[in-house]
Amino acid sequence: MSSRVVVLTGASSGIGRASALAFARRGDRVVLAARSEEALSAVAEACGNDPLVVPTDITSRADLEALQKAAVDRYGRIDVWVDSAAVMAYGKFEDLPPEVFERVVGTDLLGTANVARTALRQFRAQGHGTLILVGSLLAHVAVPYMSAYVTAKWGLRGLVRILQQETRDARHIHVCGVAPGSVDTSIYTSAANYAGFVGRPPPPVDSAERVAAKVLKQAAKPRPEVSVGAANRLIEFGFNAFPPLYDALVTPLMERGGLSRRRIAPNDGNVFGPKPRVEGGPGRWTRAQVGAVVAAGALVTAASVRRLLPRK
Ligand SMILES: NC(=O)c1ccc[n+]([C@@H]2O[C@H](COP(=O)([O-])OP(=O)(O)OC[C@H]3O[C@@H](n4cnc5c(N)ncnc54)[C@H](OP(=O)(O)O)[C@@H]3O)[C@@H](O)[C@H]2O)c1
Repeated sequence: MSSRVVVLTGASSGIGRASALAFARRGDRVVLAARSEEALSAVAEACGNDPLVVPTDITSRADLEALQKAAVDRYGRIDVWVDSAAVMAYGKFEDLPPEVFERVVGTDLLGTANVARTALRQFRAQGHGTLILVGSLLAHVAVPYMSAYVTAKWGLRGLVRILQQETRDARHIHVCGVAPGSVDTSIYTSAANYAGFVGRPPPPVDSAERVAAKVLKQAAKPRPEVSVGAANRLIEFGFNAFPPLYDALVTPLMERGGLSRRRIAPNDGNVFGPKPRVEGGPGRWTRAQVGAVVAAGALVTAASVRRLLPRK
């Protein structure tokens, strides 16, 4: 396959970083964007094939236009645009400062819409292009303590579907989604937190490299959406088929699986600007912990199903 020009927004960390490295490894020209120039430069060095680094905030339409221009000035076109830029906030809806809620939605939904608008304008002008928007399992189900993020991801899923409908007239333009479950990245420790405890990815947890491999697959052979996560379909089934049971179980499971026992004072995390990353930490699970959470979930489910079954 020939070398493509790939723009990545959210390239400084996690799934975006792993995707940038994988695209660069196969010989693609990568254009790296996120807010932190320092973190992007480190990724550029790891990529090693002279990537273009363009500090960009996706909440700014002007930043995105400058990014598009920089990529086209250097390479003449954009073949693939991957957006994995996002921020997160933990806490009950009532405890989240409204400006934190608005900024998370403003980044993860409206910022992504800015990316889509910029990318599609370029794709229409050149007659081809693939836009890959990283969504989430949390665009298919709802969990407590993550209201802003879940609201944004549900909105994004709707937007992806609409963009697919609206680009049906253009054979060589594709819009696709990637929906990861839990991924071992620093998004959990970087998040704003008003829940009192540091967040972590509930098991089963995938690596950023595994999600990046799916992103590259989408770039090669676009499909409307790929789900990444061994338990995604099961969780979606529970959410859709047994809403009362799901809602009864999700809060205790979230408190045990989605939040660590490490206390944290209320803070805005990286919502309003980039912060140095704390890799790993409470995100990492031992096999014994995973076994304990799965066993506890199975026991609670069995007990709840028994309670819901009619008695003789
Ligand atoms: N990790 C998971 O378990 C998981 C699960 C499902 C879905 N996802 C989704 O996967 C995608 C990537 O997440 P991740 O886990 O890789 O997170 P991450 O490691 O925190 O990376 C997020 C990236 O977004 C950038 N970013 C944040 N706000 C930005 C803004 N306003 N403008 C430009 N860039 C911005 C960050 O860099 P700067 O701070 O330097 O701007 C960083 O490069 C997100 O869409 C996330 O919702 C993740």
